Amino acid sequence: MKVLLTGGNGMLGRTLAAEWSDFTVISTDLPEADITDAAGFDAVVGEYCPDAVVHCAAMTAVDKCETERELAYKLNAFGSGNVAAACRRHHVRLIAISTDYVFAGDLDRPYHEFDAPGAGTVYGRTKWAGEELIRRHCPNHLIARISWLYGAGGPSFVHTMMQLADGSRPELKVVADQRGNPTSASAVARQLQLLLWHPELVGTFHLTCEGEASWYELAQELFRLTGTVQRVVPCTTAEFPRPAPRPVNSRLDKMMLRLAGLPPMPHWREALAEFVTREF
Ligand SMILES: NC(=O)c1ccc[n+]([C@@H]2O[C@H](COP(=O)([O-])OP(=O)(O)OC[C@H]3O[C@@H](n4cnc5c(N)ncnc54)[C@H](OP(=O)(O)O)[C@@H]3O)[C@@H](O)[C@H]2O)c1
Repeated sequence: MKVLLTGGNGMLGRTLAAEWSDFTVISTDLPEADITDAAGFDAVVGEYCPDAVVHCAAMTAVDKCETERELAYKLNAFGSGNVAAACRRHHVRLIAISTDYVFAGDLDRPYHEFDAPGAGTVYGRTKWAGEELIRRHCPNHLIARISWLYGAGGPSFVHTMMQLADGSRPELKVVADQRGNPTSASAVARQLQLLLWHPELVGTFHLTCEGEASWYELAQELFRLTGTVQRVVPCTTAEFPRPAPRPVNSRLDKMMLRLAGLPPMPHWREALAEFVTREF
């Protein structure tokens, strides 16, 4: 199978290109494959004739999206619409990566795929707008929502924690009142590979590791696994105000994987253990 990646130089794209040895991977990124150039991107798809496009390109700097709103819409919404139109025109299946940020994050249970969106950030609203353009313009699509991602080389929360734990700080304050599903890019790569082998599947799928944690619990487990001696102190979101408010509840229920009869992804502790042995 020939798979073309957008945003191939990003954290997820690099992992997909490195780990998909079963596929012929064409990894594209700026400047040669700019998703905001509709005609240019259409020509790229026409040139390579892939079986599927896996669309990872995005503006992912959540706080920057608050101030550079139009650029965020340009990349995450307009750009995704261009990818969708090119895929439809060339009869190529589209797998697009989205995020838990499409939800308000205030529900008292994990969000499933049929829950209503309600993003509280520009990033989340632009990603939702991108999802809607994909649904409208490319019927043969699968939207894969991921969250709390870390992968080889970073940047990610996991990498930031390891950098901060350099012995110079007596304690690290880490937010304990936000919960989510820490997810490794390798685990996403394996689940996407499975979905690519199922061309009959369409719609929106949540693809995060099993189990849940707070950032505080994730940091504790990371330091335990790496044998890092660092005191970690729980703190509240209010102690770390950010331009884009972080969702309190980022937990995603994988209802669609169950409905499709597909296996769940590994538990986050297992995926993290596998990652740290390779990364640190
Ligand atoms: N990281 C997370 O925690 C997380 C969580 C949930 C969902 N996601 C989603 O997962 C996907 C992959 O995320 P990631 O962490 O791998 O992101 P990333 O590291 O920021 O990678 C995105 C890539 O897209 C490229 N790009 C930017 N504008 C482009 C354009 N106009 N045309 C083509 N490529 C362009 C970027 O290039 P430059 O670096 O040069 O701008 C970068 O290489 C995104 O859709 C993101 O929304 C990520």
